[in-house]
Formats: sequence, structure tokens, C-alpha cells
Amino acid sequence: MIRKIHTFPDDVLRKKAQPVENIDIEISELINDMTETMYSQKGVGLAAPQVGVSLRVVVIDTSAGEDPGALIQLINPEITASEGEQTGEEGCLSIPGEYEPVRRYNKVTVKALNPAGENIELEAEGFLARAVQHELDHLEGVLFIDRIPPYKRDIVKKHIKRRIADGDYGYAEDIKS
Ligand code: NI
Repeated sequence: MIRKIHTFPDDVLRKKAQPVENIDIEISELINDMTETMYSQKGVGLAAPQVGVSLRVVVIDTSAGEDPGALIQLINPEITASEGEQTGEEGCLSIPGEYEPVRRYNKVTVKALNPAGENIELEAEGFLARAVQHELDHLEGVLFIDRIPPYKRDIVKKHIKRRIADGDYGYAEDIKS
């Protein structure tokens, strides 16, 4: 089931998400729904707070659904090592239509549980490492616009304000209501 994507400045995006304690049917459904929701918008990643659920779950697919082997679903992910640096443009399904360059680690190692409850370790580099860091930030209530220079952040916020006033921000259901 496709779920509603919460957009900035919704408060749920700013809460620190809680660890998953049991991978029960609700969590399995959440993961499936998040995956479907991400693909419905051709996104490359989605964190549970973006669908209004303050739990430590993320889904990532840097192929946006093109490569069936590219889907990564992580529960309680943690970065255990990082190295190097990269700068590249980022967007976010919760800040639709806004893109800015963000500096990130070039490589990260992540430990997590997979949907079967098994411990996994993921080594990510380049764009995948960027996506991982972006999604894990969501679990801390951090958005990519927090990682750009303050003067640019002000410009983005003003732009969003104007777009909200024009009815040109968010998803169809938001704009309607
Ligand atoms: Ni995002």
C-alpha cells in the first residue's frame, strides 16, 4: 500500500526515530509499504519518519526500481566506519522539487538487520554511500537542507514558502487539502 509522504516542515521529520524491537507483521508491512511508496515516486530512498512512522527503518534503491537486485531494506542501521569525502546534488521526497549539493563521506560501512531479522553488514561507496547517509540522517530528524550553508538554507525555505502559497509544493493530497 502506498502511504502518504510527509513533507517539510512536518514535525515528524524532526523527531529522533526509535529502534525496532520486534520484526513483526506490522514492521514487515511497513517495509513493503515504504518500498512501494518510494517506487511510486521514483525515489532512491525513504525512511520511516517520511511516512509518519518514527521507527528506525530505511529502504534504498539507487536504481529507482530499474535493477531488481538493487533494493536494500535496513532495520536499526548504524554507520560503523566512514572514509573520504564527496560532494553531490541531493533531493528528498519530503522536500520535493528542491536540490542542493551536500558534502558526505565517500564510503561508509553499515550494520543493520534485514527484514528476516538477520545481522548484515553493507559497504557502500559513492552514490549509494550518499543515499545511505541521507536516509540515516532522517532517523535522527536531520534533513539535507541542514547540511547546506545557512544562506542557501534560507533561500530554499523562502522558495518553499512561496511554493506553498502558490499551491505548488507537496503531493496531490496535500495540495487538495
Ligand atoms: Ni530524504
